[in-house]
Amino acid sequence: MEKIIINGGRRLTGEVEISGAKNAVVAIIPATILARGVCRIENIPNISDVDAMIKILHRLGAEIKMINKSTLEIDTTHIRSTVVEHDMSKLLRASYYFIGSLLGRFNRATVAMPGGCCLGVRPIDQHIKGFEAIGATVTMEENAMVDVRAERLLGTSVYFDVVSVGATINVMLASVRAKGLTVIENAAKEPHIVDLANFLNSMGADVRGAGTDVIKIRGVEELHGCEYAIIPDQIEAGTYMVAAAATKGDVLIKNVIPKHLESISAKLVECGVNVEEFDDSIRVWTDERPNHCGIKTMPHPGFPTDMQPQFSVLLAVARGNSMVSESVWDNRFRYVAQLHRMGAKITVDGKSSFIEGVEELRAAPVKADDLRAGAAMVIAGLIARGTTEIEEIHHIQRGYDNIIEKFRSLGADIELCTVPDEKNTVLSVG
Ligand code: EPZ
Repeated sequence: MEKIIINGGRRLTGEVEISGAKNAVVAIIPATILARGVCRIENIPNISDVDAMIKILHRLGAEIKMINKSTLEIDTTHIRSTVVEHDMSKLLRASYYFIGSLLGRFNRATVAMPGGCCLGVRPIDQHIKGFEAIGATVTMEENAMVDVRAERLLGTSVYFDVVSVGATINVMLASVRAKGLTVIENAAKEPHIVDLANFLNSMGADVRGAGTDVIKIRGVEELHGCEYAIIPDQIEAGTYMVAAAATKGDVLIKNVIPKHLESISAKLVECGVNVEEFDDSIRVWTDERPNHCGIKTMPHPGFPTDMQPQFSVLLAVARGNSMVSESVWDNRFRYVAQLHRMGAKITVDGKSSFIEGVEELRAAPVKADDLRAGAAMVIAGLIARGTTEIEEIHHIQRGYDNIIEKFRSLGADIELCTVPDEKNTVLSVG
């Protein structure tokens, strides 16, 4: 078992480089199935969700070469299998993108229901609605396998009842080679949707409107290999921005697209934190305790739900009372129980939390309940007085490239420990 150990109280200063976006790369890796030829993809983050996607692709029969630590070459020409079993799909939520991509190429996919962070009910009814609209038959088989097949995929209009990142991506993947025009209405607008559209277009697809709520996809006969670089991770960048503010630090966050960070920057400014945007970097600094503010999570361009736990840590030590409303997920406050152990004063009522800012947090043994909850624990550990130990850090490793080294380079006293059993005897530190 691995733990993160943090001696809190150090101000973060310096520069940090943001890696490729997790939620873009986990869509783009399965999208390579649609191409005939080699795709060379750069700016791949070193995270366990990428390892899982590569494992699945490899098992399907793809050839994957690691060119350097952030570049992959993927050749899916010889894929024959259209089945993703439980042992693979349980590794992450994005395994369901293999439904759209296998369906798009082979008119058939059998994929076990996906795993992923536990954020409340995570239905896939909108994905199914989209597949059925373009001519597929969807059957839920025994063992929670989703079987999707079509004689021929035919473009049509698909209206989503809820704004869903996953359903938008899955229907884009399934329809790029369908006959005719597919129009996705009430589509998600997140930066990773635009990145996937750009990737598909680099392979010869005809996708227009990504980034707005209407996406038009004109089916093409064939897609070819391409070279592509993944966009920077909006949420990783936001996490370092909040960590800089929470530690009263001064950090230049490099390799970002400031436009993607506007909702986070705006809230930091509302809290009295200084934010300065450059072309591809953003500086965040303060030497004061933040002011309180209200937050409501929304689909892009609203405040991202994936920043809600991290920002709540900042508000937990802010001057005054704040209210946080979670409008995307039913159950994204599990981390609050961990923050209580550190002295935070937060009450949760349904999908809202009420935060009474305290002067400081104190260290405690805590765990990462999910990916962003884990990031919130790291920020809490960085500002708390004393030594914080975080367990279940595999959640954090799913989405944060080199988090220990990056925070350490900013002056944090943070390390990874490997412990052999429940007695938690320290074996190695590094
Ligand atoms: C993506 O999840 C992200 N994951 C999540 O990131 C993120 O929290 C979420 O989008 C919202 O931004 C990936 O991109 C791999 P949704 P996804 O479909 O696609 C409901 C992180 O920390 N819904 O946009 O699963 C659903 O219940 C993670 O990086 C339906 O009702 O989210 C939710 O309330 C965790 N029916 C809302 O829509 C459906 O068929 C948004 O879900 C699909 C979704």
